[in-house]
Amino acid sequence: MVKDFSLFTSPGMERMPNGDPHAAVACLHNGPRIFYSPCNTRDGRGTWVITRAQDQRKLLQDTGTFSSHRSLFASALGENWPLIPLELDPPAHSVFRSLLNPLLSPKRIMELEPAVRDRAIALISKISASSTSCDVLTDFAFPFAVSIFLRLLGLSDERLETFVGWGRDLLHGDGIRRTAAARTILAFIDELAAMRRKQPADDFMTFVVQAKVDGRALRDEEIHGIGVLLFVAGLDTVATAIGFDLAYLARNPKEQELLRSKPHRIVLAAEELLRAYSTVQMIRVATKDINFEGAPIRKGDFVSCATMIANRDPAEFEHPNTIDLAREDNRHTAFAYGPHRCLGSHLARQEIVIALEEWLSRIPDFRIKDGTAPITYGGHVFGMENLILDWS
Ligand code: HEM
Repeated sequence: MVKDFSLFTSPGMERMPNGDPHAAVACLHNGPRIFYSPCNTRDGRGTWVITRAQDQRKLLQDTGTFSSHRSLFASALGENWPLIPLELDPPAHSVFRSLLNPLLSPKRIMELEPAVRDRAIALISKISASSTSCDVLTDFAFPFAVSIFLRLLGLSDERLETFVGWGRDLLHGDGIRRTAAARTILAFIDELAAMRRKQPADDFMTFVVQAKVDGRALRDEEIHGIGVLLFVAGLDTVATAIGFDLAYLARNPKEQELLRSKPHRIVLAAEELLRAYSTVQMIRVATKDINFEGAPIRKGDFVSCATMIANRDPAEFEHPNTIDLAREDNRHTAFAYGPHRCLGSHLARQEIVIALEEWLSRIPDFRIKDGTAPITYGGHVFGMENLILDWS
């Protein structure tokens, strides 16, 4: 059952110009439902790989057998606390998930819409006023995602550049930068929590410091777990989605023009692009020995449910490798499935749709700048490093 495949090291997963890591995983559907990959995490650990969407759904719902408890972020700092709610299993997961759900509910996200749009417009207008070319990831998508995080915290864009730097170091820096950024972010969370305890406001951190679970206030480590997750969960994921979407439209001028002239189609198109360019690999740890659909999984084994694999499953989607911006009934799992389904999915969708709407309405006929090529990479979160667009 061992197969020489890895989301980190297989051909197509390395950092490369004009790469297509999603095409590189699509071929897995010609193979077994489940196999063992000897090296499929950042630190080189092996995982079982679940290739069929139906099996992934079954596994993700069985939190008793397949646990999310890993304390990955904290262990890099020599500490031991979970990202909340991501690294908790039920019943603790349900307690925190119920607490946090209202903060990112559809109603709350609708109320945020004008602020999200304003921040998109501000960034795009600055670009279009000064140039006919830019790097979408650096100049727009990443700062946009960071700016929305600041908005959730009730903060202005005054310190946007500082936060963008922290986000970049944390997600893409070397070991030293990553640890330093993690410490800085934790110190910032402590500082903000202390401020909101003294001076409450109508924002996320005030909610968190005033919240109660089991009749008690949240502990500092719980506030760290929530604050850090909220920061990291919505940066690369949203920025990369915008990057893949605009790269696709730059390479497909007819579809670009169609969405520009018929913006009401953007919502459906964004769903298809989320499906086709899904970015997140989920890892679970087996809590006991189990035979799962023929695979002899042992207690402690890692199991991978990669959304980029499930969402190219021909048993779920007709012509999964064709991008059809008008695809209906698109039940993709880009935002996961089961109890850990993405808490920020409503916000993420809103950010992506607004980014596309405002970009298409403000930037004319754009293409990938001659002589440049977007650099893509595989891994736990598939990504794009740069996307130089030109509309001169
Ligand atoms: C396109 C953008 C995004 C994608 C593709 C995405 C995808 C995912 C996925 C696949 C998971 C499940 C991870 C797992 O179970 O191991 C998840 C969980 C989560 N996401 Fe997102 N996400 C996105 C944006 C966001 C944003 C903007 C936020 C918040 C501001 C957010 C907050 C969360 C949280 C808090 C969880 C943990 C939920 C839980 O464990 O119950 N995400 N996301």
